[in-house]
Amino acid sequence: MTELDRRLDSLLDGRREKKRFRSLKEYDTTPESGLADFSSNDYLSLTSSASLRKAYLSKLESTPSIFGSTGSRLLSGCTPSHSSLEKRFERFFNSPAALLFNSGWDANVSFFATVPQPNDWVIYDELVHASVHSGVRASRIPIERRLPFNHNDPAHLEKVLKRMQNTASTSKDTSTVFVALESLYSMDGDFSPLPTLLDILENYIPRRRLCVVLDEAHSTGVYGQQGRGITYALGEEGGFDAGDQRRRGKGRVDVRLMTFGKAVGCSGAVLLCSPTVRSFLINFARPLIFSTALPHSTIIALECVWDILQNEEGDQRRQSLMSLAEYIHNRLDQLLSRTPPNILHLPPDPILPFPQATDLPAKPGSPILGLLTPTPHALSAFLLEKGFIVRPVVPPTVPPGAERVRICLRAGMDEKMIDGLIAALTEWVHQQTTPVADLRAKL
Ligand SMILES: Cc1ncc(COP(=O)(O)O)c(C=O)c1O
Repeated sequence: MTELDRRLDSLLDGRREKKRFRSLKEYDTTPESGLADFSSNDYLSLTSSASLRKAYLSKLESTPSIFGSTGSRLLSGCTPSHSSLEKRFERFFNSPAALLFNSGWDANVSFFATVPQPNDWVIYDELVHASVHSGVRASRIPIERRLPFNHNDPAHLEKVLKRMQNTASTSKDTSTVFVALESLYSMDGDFSPLPTLLDILENYIPRRRLCVVLDEAHSTGVYGQQGRGITYALGEEGGFDAGDQRRRGKGRVDVRLMTFGKAVGCSGAVLLCSPTVRSFLINFARPLIFSTALPHSTIIALECVWDILQNEEGDQRRQSLMSLAEYIHNRLDQLLSRTPPNILHLPPDPILPFPQATDLPAKPGSPILGLLTPTPHALSAFLLEKGFIVRPVVPPTVPPGAERVRICLRAGMDEKMIDGLIAALTEWVHQQTTPVADLRAKL
């Protein structure tokens, strides 16, 4: 062991002691493994779609360039197929401009590290993704101008806005207030009360000084007409100049992030924004400037995925996912109603109901369930023995005290699989609530 390894290892010991040590675990999720995967973000089960596979292979066969893009977007990586996919996204998501990134991580870091200027503000839901935090940390916004508010809590957002007004604003203030939100939060699986938050923001900050950035990583492809996302379904997509004919609805979400690593079943992301923000990122976003652009194989796959999202198969997959979500929520509610919360419970119900819109289900089910438990590793190991892959999530990914296992649904599952998982969870709860002496007597 080198001196460096020795020092690093002693730092890792700290993680081991706190039971926060991370390691890579490989799971065989092929049908032959007999394991049911409740950990994947493949919400629409597109990675196993036979028609997607067929369309992709056939398109690869007939396309001259299928390998790497061979350069950054500023060099050889800006091909007609990259630009044409961006144009497709502009039309599909109704955005004035679209910019591809190699990942959602890169897009969030790029945006927050470069776009806000030193006298701007950033207000963010405390549970926004780590990539937003990393971007903000790398930005030039002073620490005292970075303001979190309690998760999905409109009253606390108001408090934070009042605090900000007291510290800063004069009528001549031209700084921008960036607000970072997610449509569907990845750990609690709950939705943002978006219209309420936007109304509050408008009450405190003039529109011209606001820049709302909504991360739709977990809703891309899943919600809204043909999977256009929650912002679109609510008519809040923005980034247009005043008077732009393409503008629909209120348009109060200025920037949207749609990612391709989850329901879309590929990798990469697209940032939907104004043409000026796009141009600014092309000039200053280091992850975009200094990294090889998405390979042709991914661009081809994304075109094939979008063909499916826009046809009947996409609708069917979204419907299956919604009915499975309803089913598991009902089954879990039954189990949890007779389970002591210190053994297993769901995060508290949302403060506000989900907003209504024509293109959204009246009570949209979430494909993510965070099941809180003080012993996530033990529960995950127990479920694996029973044939279910359900991963533990521990600090620092979630705050201390919010340890959980995270259950993710996929459109290709069936109710029998969910029944199996509920039976295993019931057995676990039973074991935890049965005194040790009773268990011994049974052995
Ligand atoms: C809310 C959210 N935003 C951004 C990302 C990053 O996306 P990607 O996996 O494409 O880097 C993730 C990924 O976990 C996420 O959950």
